[in-house]
Amino acid sequence: METPSLPPVGRGQGGEGLTTGEAPFIEQAREAGQRFIQQPYELYSESNHEAWRRLYARQEDSWARFANRHFLRGLESLHLDRGQVPDLDDVNKFLSPRTGFVARPVSGYVPAFAFFDCLRQRAFPTTITIRDANRLDYLPEPDIFHDIAGHVPMHTDPAFADALVRFGDCAHTAAELAAGIKDKDQQVQQLSSIIRAMARFFWFTIEFGLMREGDALKVYGSGLLSSRGEIEHAIVSPHVQRYPLQLEWVINQGFEIDHYQPLLFIVASFDHLFELVDTLEKWMRLGKLSNVAPGEPGVSEADLRSFLDVGN
Ligand SMILES: [Fe+2]
Repeated sequence: METPSLPPVGRGQGGEGLTTGEAPFIEQAREAGQRFIQQPYELYSESNHEAWRRLYARQEDSWARFANRHFLRGLESLHLDRGQVPDLDDVNKFLSPRTGFVARPVSGYVPAFAFFDCLRQRAFPTTITIRDANRLDYLPEPDIFHDIAGHVPMHTDPAFADALVRFGDCAHTAAELAAGIKDKDQQVQQLSSIIRAMARFFWFTIEFGLMREGDALKVYGSGLLSSRGEIEHAIVSPHVQRYPLQLEWVINQGFEIDHYQPLLFIVASFDHLFELVDTLEKWMRLGKLSNVAPGEPGVSEADLRSFLDVGN
């Protein structure tokens, strides 16, 4: 049954609301230029909590069937409340003793370098708004369900956490390499290519990755874990191509974000994932990421600047 069969949720109960795209608190933080914020928990409305309850309830069976064991173990160890939007302080109490990671509230988009640098400091930039309870499948940007129920359970795993930190190292290496290129056009061209390669690798692993588990194939990518329909599609659909991850392929492979992914890549383990990020950094130093295939994703001016401004 799809969500339209559920009764609509009223507004106006509880706080003013922290609904994606219509939260005054977030607008004000952005206008004030505040990237890192607090989670004003009292502002969540009853409708926000209802959205969380519905999202969580409809995903549980899929997690049991398709999610990798590290995720399931992580979910259990975080003691996430099924009944209400999680308080990040509570989540962090269970998370940080395991791997040193914390979920850090942000007001919205974080430019690429700042995002990866946060990971290096074992802080995960976390969206605190939640999608509208009456439009659970419409998600224009990440929300707290994607970030906390999709990403954070994996951050309890030491090998996975180390791989994320290694992404942060890669960003620092990229900034360092870019700073060494004196010709401005060449600097922009090569840095754009490196950022594109990193974004592709992140997409095909952290967001949409599959993992071998015995004879089975499981999901560890957060974009899949937080999607109602795509988690099953990723594993069972005959229309999806699934291949062992090859770095040279992934860094040259474009992707589109507005439909189910037709191509997914498989890692053997999180230790394998860590080795791949390690190799990514080595390749970056060898110049192998400086001229990857053009195409998606685009690299924004803000993303470029975030790397070039390091050390300035
Ligand atoms: Fe994500």
